[in-house]
Amino acid sequence: MSSDAERSASALYDTPRHVEGPEGCHFYHATDLPGIGSVPGDWDLRATVGDYLGNVPFAGKRVLDIGSASGFLSFEAERRGGEVVSYDLSPTDRWDAVPHSGVDLGSVDGMMREHLDSINRAYWLSHRLNGSRARLARGTVYAIPDAVGPVDVAIFGAILLHLRDPFRALHSGLRLTRETVVVTDLLPGRYRWLRHVGRYLGAPMFFVPRSTRKERFDTWWIIPPETVCEMLRVLGFEDLRVAYHLHPFRGSPRLTYTVVGRRTGPASDRI
Ligand SMILES: C[S@@+](CC[C@H](N)C(=O)[O-])C[C@H]1O[C@@H](n2cnc3c(N)ncnc32)[C@H](O)[C@@H]1O
Repeated sequence: MSSDAERSASALYDTPRHVEGPEGCHFYHATDLPGIGSVPGDWDLRATVGDYLGNVPFAGKRVLDIGSASGFLSFEAERRGGEVVSYDLSPTDRWDAVPHSGVDLGSVDGMMREHLDSINRAYWLSHRLNGSRARLARGTVYAIPDAVGPVDVAIFGAILLHLRDPFRALHSGLRLTRETVVVTDLLPGRYRWLRHVGRYLGAPMFFVPRSTRKERFDTWWIIPPETVCEMLRVLGFEDLRVAYHLHPFRGSPRLTYTVVGRRTGPASDRI
């Protein structure tokens, strides 16, 4: 790399952080760490990660893992031959918290900052122990820097449900994406019926916040895969497939779907 390129890369990507061991780390996924062994996580994708990632090929591809958390999907894409950029919130960005009337979002911000720090620690510990070359850029999904792209594959794993504006988030990542998008999201228990009738409903999204549950600030939408497909068509990805699968979350299987889209039309830059 030329020194100019090195300078701009160092402005874009975080400097690796030395994390000695799993203390103070939050692993979002159960993870097998070389030299340490298994650490528990909320999700266990170890046996089913291929399905979660839509079984797309990563070898030789530039991959953008959006909402990378502690990095499980990034390191898997890298293990499968991808050159990976992980992307997640920085400590100065705010979570898209639901602004419930009367709730002090300042305390939510503080709590989420601590949470982000602990998943960031887990990311860098895994990174070091796996000898990873993945790079981490941080910021909000709505403003992914152009210089992160172009990428061949973008992964949106379990992030759209947490965003006030999922379409804008897709647009932001996909304007940088040349070939393939992988969107994985959840259909929780009460919404499983969507699997059977979703295609008859148009392109709905179900608004999750309830005024009676002010403690729930982190989830906005249940989005059926048909709706994700329509969003992707609008953005120039008309070759689409959908698969459903189950993955253990805190010990119980959760219904999850993955949409894989291939680019068939040009990107629109106008965000
Ligand atoms: C539920 S985790 C998903 C982790 C992983 N991608 C997966 O599929 O299991 C959601 C991730 O999205 C990140 N995130 C949430 N809101 C974001 C935003 N506005 N911009 C960027 N990242 C965001 C969170 O910090 C978290 O790491």
